[in-house]
Amino acid sequence: MLLRDKTAIITGGSKGVGRGIALKFAREGCDVVVCARNAAETEKVAEELRALGRKSLAFALDVANSAKVEEMVERTIAEFGKIDILVNTAGEIAGSDPSASKSIALIPEEEWDRIVGSNLKGTFLTMRSVIPQMKKQGNGVIINFTSLGAIHPPTVAPHYHASKAGVIGMTYDTARELGPFNIRVNAIMPGPIRTPFFDKLVAGMTDEEREAFFAGMAKICPLQRVGTPEDCAGAALFLASDLSAYVTGAVIPVTGGLPLQPTL
Ligand SMILES: NC(=O)c1ccc[n+]([C@@H]2O[C@H](COP(=O)([O-])OP(=O)(O)OC[C@H]3O[C@@H](n4cnc5c(N)ncnc54)[C@H](O)[C@@H]3O)[C@@H](O)[C@H]2O)c1
Repeated sequence: MLLRDKTAIITGGSKGVGRGIALKFAREGCDVVVCARNAAETEKVAEELRALGRKSLAFALDVANSAKVEEMVERTIAEFGKIDILVNTAGEIAGSDPSASKSIALIPEEEWDRIVGSNLKGTFLTMRSVIPQMKKQGNGVIINFTSLGAIHPPTVAPHYHASKAGVIGMTYDTARELGPFNIRVNAIMPGPIRTPFFDKLVAGMTDEEREAFFAGMAKICPLQRVGTPEDCAGAALFLASDLSAYVTGAVIPVTGGLPLQPTL
């Protein structure tokens, strides 16, 4: 077991990539605090983790709410006595109307605030809250989630891509600052991963159209398939464990080979 008796906080752990990482970490011996917006979904994942024999706490919160984030971190320390790992998967792309153009001229201010709040401010707030405890411990691991779209946008979503580019900057900056405290900070950069992330986008499609949509994505990847939460969980396990003891300030693409083109 690579994470025996470790404690991890996973934001966005109620579904998709976050849930995949929570299950992977629990199987590796890690206790997990699962946080996301929806209380029932979050509790459901915590129950799955307990069924694997690990301790788990569910905490419903908006990561952009600093008071809630601090409460969650205090509760984690009270229950587990430490925070070894923070994984920031909480993030979102679709605004109130995912089918509308996301041209910068058409983005309502509240949609900008919501997307940047979930993706960038949320990552800032959780990092800020766990760092004092990690410094006290003399160790810690932080894994942030950016997106391939931050550097190669496949569509027009300036709020999403700007927030994800911000996560890269924050990862580099904090890795440098926190290295001397034995706190490692890295980021995972997913390409297309099939999760509820796409739910709003494919909501109006027939089953055939939905499969054609994902098949189209698979075709542009050198590995010729869309990724899974498990693909991201493998990279997260590497970064969370001592396998990556000398890795900090890295941004690891989990993209099926993108932005390389498939061989013609
Ligand atoms: N799926 C992809 O293709 C893809 C590609 C590139 C990057 N990413 C990034 O990877 C991460 C995981 O994505 P996913 O595919 O699992 O998405 P998902 O939509 O399946 O899950 C996102 C999770 O984040 C939570 N969340 C979102 N905003 C939140 C907020 N403000 N407060 C608390 N919880 C919040 C949701 O409740 C959910 O649990 C995200 O940061 C996403 O931007 C995903």
